[in-house]
Amino acid sequence: MKERYEELIKIINEADYNYHTLDKPTISDQEYDKYLRELFDLEYQYPELKREDSPTQRAGGKVLEGFEKVTHKIPMLSLSNVFNESEIINFDERIKKEGINPKYVCELKIDGLSVSLQYEKGKLIKAATRGDGTIGEDITNNVKTIKTVPLTLNKEIDIEVRGEIYMSKEVFNKINENRKQEGKELLQNPRNAAAGSIRQLDSKVAASRKLECWIYHLPNPEDYGISTHKEALQFMSELGFRVNPNNKLVNNIKELLEFIEFQTENRDNLPYEIDGIVIKLNNLSEQKKLGYTAKYPKWATAYKFPAKEVLTKLIDIIFTVGRTGQITPNAVLEPVIVQGSTIRRATLHNEDYVTKKDLKIGDIVSIRKAADVIPEVVEAIKERRTGKEKEFEMIKFCPICNSPLMKKDGQVDYYCFNQNCDRKHIEAIIHFASRKAMNIDGLGDRIVEDFYNLGFIHKYSDLYKLHEYKKDLVELEGFGDKSIDNLMEAIEKSKEQSLEKLIFGLGIPNVGEKTAKVLAIHYETLDNLIEATEEELTNISDIGNIIAKSIKEYFALSFNKEEVEKLKEQGINMIYTGEKIQINENFYNKTFVITGTLEKYTRDEIESKIELLGGKTSSSVSKKTSALIVGSNPGSKYEKAQKLEIPIWSEEDFDNLIKED
Ligand code: IVH
Repeated sequence: MKERYEELIKIINEADYNYHTLDKPTISDQEYDKYLRELFDLEYQYPELKREDSPTQRAGGKVLEGFEKVTHKIPMLSLSNVFNESEIINFDERIKKEGINPKYVCELKIDGLSVSLQYEKGKLIKAATRGDGTIGEDITNNVKTIKTVPLTLNKEIDIEVRGEIYMSKEVFNKINENRKQEGKELLQNPRNAAAGSIRQLDSKVAASRKLECWIYHLPNPEDYGISTHKEALQFMSELGFRVNPNNKLVNNIKELLEFIEFQTENRDNLPYEIDGIVIKLNNLSEQKKLGYTAKYPKWATAYKFPAKEVLTKLIDIIFTVGRTGQITPNAVLEPVIVQGSTIRRATLHNEDYVTKKDLKIGDIVSIRKAADVIPEVVEAIKERRTGKEKEFEMIKFCPICNSPLMKKDGQVDYYCFNQNCDRKHIEAIIHFASRKAMNIDGLGDRIVEDFYNLGFIHKYSDLYKLHEYKKDLVELEGFGDKSIDNLMEAIEKSKEQSLEKLIFGLGIPNVGEKTAKVLAIHYETLDNLIEATEEELTNISDIGNIIAKSIKEYFALSFNKEEVEKLKEQGINMIYTGEKIQINENFYNKTFVITGTLEKYTRDEIESKIELLGGKTSSSVSKKTSALIVGSNPGSKYEKAQKLEIPIWSEEDFDNLIKED
């Protein structure tokens, strides 16, 4: 029995290493699960067999009351920073002044949290956070759940290594998507998410966060007869550690700057976040010669990418009313340029968001573009307060109609519940007419607002009666016969839109463009959707409880029912006229990733084509990807797919496979 037990551990450890560390899976998921189940069963039947380094430990389970302190035998130092070319050159010159002719190893600076791993006789015995550099916390239980941290090394040696624990962009986005669905506050960034996960007292929760780890530092290389950092990386890799392959030994400053330029360009293609490049002197005796300051090694530095955050003043907080009545506080900012565009406003989401960030009017705040587009207020710079800042106060009444504001059950947002609030109506009509909904050309935000205020429209169904006021409209300043004719034509044309556009246009809370399409394909007519039960709705993949409930609530309201009836009377199409799902075995239940520029299809087109054939699309390549569809100039996804031996299809292959089934 013991033999089988040992054998299983070996098989699973190897499979984990090949899959997670080398990115080269060797056995199928089913086989893996079978071995793991057998191992769990054996441990259950014969608890005396159980080893501390068993892969079953990776599932987590231990719940701690707190974290024990760990004293680092060798302090865990941080790195000095450089921000531009001339500071890099200064760093290089300081080293040359010591009579050294330097070669450097450049590495990615992974944006996570550092960890120290201790092994005795090749077994992981302790993992600790950096803490203050001298004393950290024991996070062994949680670190054991990280599949890229080996529990057993290839040699039975005593060793300490250091590296970075991080969360991939994909896992981070998934967690936030789920949190959004559940109405929970979103995690700020992958680094905070990783730090929060590693500080979970329940290791099962930590296991669910799917953290990863890169190893980049060997604190006592002399013990192993190693003389360069490059060798240390190779040595650690051979022991079974996951060492980031994007490193380079450079001979001079020119090569160093080239590496930085290349990695800066490539940054967004990486599946994890980096915040700079670490530059380390390669020769270890030269490292020793230079030594340390109290905080940093003198033989290394970190080049930090230009700040994506910029400081500005929070001039005011104003409130807007959305089409669902949701009240949103918005930051009015002193205009500032972030990554090339001027930012004047940023959403502050809701009262909790503002209070948690402790923002005061008059504060100096840092601003960044989240996911590189939407401006976000990161934090108030408290040290710069003068005492003259004004406290934030949530409003109690709708800024438009003055009705009292209330929260919905268990939610953080305030709503104006007045069915007749003007702003709600205006926003609802703007949304209905927008490009992704009924796509009424020529009916911009201002025009909707003007028509509304002049009493021509009150609800979106009124748009289809607008022709009755044609004479009055032509008289309006800024309009003429021609533009009103065009508008009338666009309104008439919108009657033919396919059902998904209408569903999206109705503005059902939580029903975005994608969900509207799923619903339209599934139900084919609006009546079918209206009649669907909550249970039927949740049976559709991609439709969760929140969406289902929201749909039912929407159609239960008499105002909405009446609007739908009016649209029907006016002859608006309520049937899905797009392509129907045609299950194709080459695509059914499979996941595809697209990279590069395609010739025949836009991204949206090919994605919706795949969905109509019964497949799914994803933005990143993993073992689960069924095929990568490649256009010209493919990115790093192409290499990853090759590495994982995932089928690679050209656009032509794609077309042929559609026809094949
Ligand atoms: S070397 C004595 N290499 O950056 C050398 N650090 O700002 C210790 N980091 O505390 C660090 N990627 O948490 C090193 N390739 C890399 C790194 C890296 C990320 C982190 C690490 C360190 C911080 C310094």
